[in-house]
Amino acid sequence: MEKIILDCDPGHDDAIAILLAAGNPKIDLLGITTVSGNHNVENTTRNALSVCTAYGIKVPVAKGSPGPLIIDQVLAVEIHGDTGLDGPVLPPASFELDKRHAVDFIIDTVMAHEPKTITLVPVGPYTNIALAVRKEPRIVSQVKRVVAMGGSFTRGNITPAAEFNIYADPEAADVVFRAAWDVTMVGLDLTHQAQATPDLQDRVRAVGGPIARFILDIWAFIATTHGGLLQIAYPAVHDACCVAAMIDGSVFITEKADIRVEIAGRWTKGMTVCNFEKMGGMRHFGGTASEQTDFRHTVAMKLDHAKFCDLVVDALERLTKA
Ligand code: BDR
Ligand code: CA
Repeated sequence: MEKIILDCDPGHDDAIAILLAAGNPKIDLLGITTVSGNHNVENTTRNALSVCTAYGIKVPVAKGSPGPLIIDQVLAVEIHGDTGLDGPVLPPASFELDKRHAVDFIIDTVMAHEPKTITLVPVGPYTNIALAVRKEPRIVSQVKRVVAMGGSFTRGNITPAAEFNIYADPEAADVVFRAAWDVTMVGLDLTHQAQATPDLQDRVRAVGGPIARFILDIWAFIATTHGGLLQIAYPAVHDACCVAAMIDGSVFITEKADIRVEIAGRWTKGMTVCNFEKMGGMRHFGGTASEQTDFRHTVAMKLDHAKFCDLVVDALERLTKA
């Protein structure tokens, strides 16, 4: 079993990541932490609680940071709507939040477990994770790895250069990529391959029931916003890709790189600059020995879409039968 903490900002694809984590027996979902991102943290927390309430997911939910470390708040209302999860109808939350702040929940949980047994899965801006690193630096050597949705080595989605989760808190992303832990970047290059194709939607429809309806409503809403803004054919199920990789590491192939986060560029703020080992790799990032390249990050490159779809449908079937 893979023990994970899902740090999220639900968010349509975040909600599917929650369902996939809760619905697969290989995942031990230790808790859900929330962050401001797709919408403010009040809404993302309410949405997380509502999803858990609606589908009987009994894990601690801890509310986190209300805004980025330094910059002004950026929300993704144009993608996720005025509630952060527009479209599907969810019941009000019927259980209590964990009493701790998300940052303390992360630290307490990581430090209370055996070393290298917990994976952090941030799928919103990385504010909580960066604050946890600053508050308790020992978590860096204590966690097994970080599998994070965010970034890109080709295109952005909020600016030409930057992906939303990084752009919404670039300084936090900088902390996360510079910490000496094992980080896998699951960026847009990968997640744009994880589209909810008509075939996947048909398979979900065939399962039937309220959870299938919820997922289809998510994709119906996102189709209206993604389609116009991102010019991809079908809704991308970004965040669920990280959970899928925790269930089955062969769901995507990876390459090693050295990733730096642009925090100051006039046109490139929030860009994840990837120096790929396989492509010859520049020896230095900035020309001095202190900026020597170290190919220690992992980048998700190519998705096995069929395998990804099987995992989504399998989790849906299990949750529906439960
Ligand atoms: C990321 O931003 C959010 O809109 C999604 O939930 C995902 O985490 C994609 O850029
Ligand atoms: Ca997200």
